[in-house]
Amino acid sequence: MAVAARPQTVDRFTVAPGGALRGRVTVPGDKSISHRAAILAALAVGPSTLDGCLEADDTLATLAALRALGVGAARLAPSRWRIDGLGQAELRAPSATLELGNSGTALRLLMGALAGAPLIATLDGDAALRGRPMERVAVPLRAMGAELGTREGGAPVVVRGRPPLRGLDWTPEVPSAQVKSAILLAGLAAEGEVVVHEPVPTRDHTERLLGAFGVDCRRDGERVRLGARRRPQPAEVAIPGDLSSAAFLLIGAALAPGSDLTVEGVGLNPTRTGFLEVLRLMGADLTIEPAGMLGAEPVGAVRVRGSELAGIELGGTLAANAIDELPMLMVAAACARGTTRLRDATELAHKESDRLATTAAGLAALGIAVERHVDGLTVVGGRPRGGTVDAVGDHRLAMAFAMAALGAAGPVEVQGAAQVATSFPGFVALAQRCGLRIAAPVAA
Ligand code: S3P
Repeated sequence: MAVAARPQTVDRFTVAPGGALRGRVTVPGDKSISHRAAILAALAVGPSTLDGCLEADDTLATLAALRALGVGAARLAPSRWRIDGLGQAELRAPSATLELGNSGTALRLLMGALAGAPLIATLDGDAALRGRPMERVAVPLRAMGAELGTREGGAPVVVRGRPPLRGLDWTPEVPSAQVKSAILLAGLAAEGEVVVHEPVPTRDHTERLLGAFGVDCRRDGERVRLGARRRPQPAEVAIPGDLSSAAFLLIGAALAPGSDLTVEGVGLNPTRTGFLEVLRLMGADLTIEPAGMLGAEPVGAVRVRGSELAGIELGGTLAANAIDELPMLMVAAACARGTTRLRDATELAHKESDRLATTAAGLAALGIAVERHVDGLTVVGGRPRGGTVDAVGDHRLAMAFAMAALGAAGPVEVQGAAQVATSFPGFVALAQRCGLRIAAPVAA
C-alpha cells in the first residue's frame, strides 16, 4: 500500500517584516471536500477515485481510519487516490481506536457514517480535539437510534451503529456543516424522512458530493432533505484547491501594498467565499475569475492587489460564512486603518483552539490593541510592532500570525507552528515563493 509523503513539519517560523506577495500559484486540495469524498467513496461499493485530494495530517487521518474499517485506500499518484469502498453495511469493526489527530471534521463526519454501520468503534484525537464539543453531533444521532457515548461531552467517542436508523427532522443548536453532514451520512442508513433545517446556510459540500455519488439530496428553502435514493455509487471526484488555505496568501496580499497575487484553481463555492466579501468591504482590490465547474463545485482564480485596508463592522451571516478565515481577517484588521468590531462569532471559541482568546492574545503579543468579547473581538488597526507569538498548535493561527509580518514594523516569530501540516502542507515554501520573508529554522 503506497503511503503519502509526510509533509515537512516545523515548530516555529521567523518572518522578517515587510515585503509583498506576487505571482500566480495554486494551493493544495480542499480539506472539507477531501474528507467527504473519501468517506462517501468508502460508503459506496466498489472503486472510486479522488483527484486533487488533500494530503495533510487531517485528511490522512480520515484515510487511515477508513483503512482500519476495512476499506482500500491506495495512493495512485500525488493527490490521486483510489478508494475501494465496502458500503456502509459492510464496514468492519476496527481492532483499535480510530485516532483522528486534530481533525474535528474527520471525527464528526465519521460519527455520522458509523452510526449507520453495524459495528462498534471508538474515535479519539489529540488534546485539542478532546476539548471540542461532540454532543451536538451525538444527540441527533441518538435520536436516529444509534448509541453514542462521549467523555464529558467530547472525545473519545464510542459509536455503536444500529442500522436501520430512524428518520430525523432536526435543527442544529448552532449552524454547523459538520453536524448537518453527520446527520446526512447517518441518514443513508435510515428509513423515513431525514431533514436538517438550516436558517443560516453552512458549507454544502456534503450535499453536492452526495449528488455526485448518486444519492438524492435536495435543498428546499431552509431544509436539506435526503430523498429515496440513498445508496452511494462509486464516483470519480475532482477536488479544487482549498480557498481557506488560499485565504492566508490572498489576505496577506491585500494588506501589503505592492502585492499582486493570483491563486488559481480554487473552489468558489458561495458558502466559502464570505471572506472575499469582507476583504472588499475593507477596501481590498480583488477580482474573481470564475472558471466553470469542477465536478459539483464552482472553481476559478482570485487575484488580489495590495492596498490600504480600512477597519469594518463585521457580524451576522457574513461572520459565520468566513468562520475559518476570521483569524487571518483579524490580522488584516490589525494592519488596517481604523477599528474593526467582530460580532456573532461565538463559535470561534470551539475551533482547533479558542480562537477568540488565541487570536486576541497573539495580536496583543504583536503590539496591537485588542479586546475580546463574548461573541467577538475589537481590533484597533495600525502597525503591529512584531515580536514573539504563540500559535498554540493551531494551524490557522500559525499561518495568520506569519502573514502579520507583511504589515509589521519588526520581525515576527511564531511558536507552536507544527500543526500547519494539519491543512496546508508546503505552506512555508509556497509563502516564500510568493515573497513572504519566512524561514522555518527547526525542521523535523
Ligand atoms: C467544516 C465546517 C466548519 C469549519 C470547519 C470545517 C467542515 O465547521 O469551521 O473548519 O468541513 O464541515 P462547522 O461544523 O462549525 O460548520
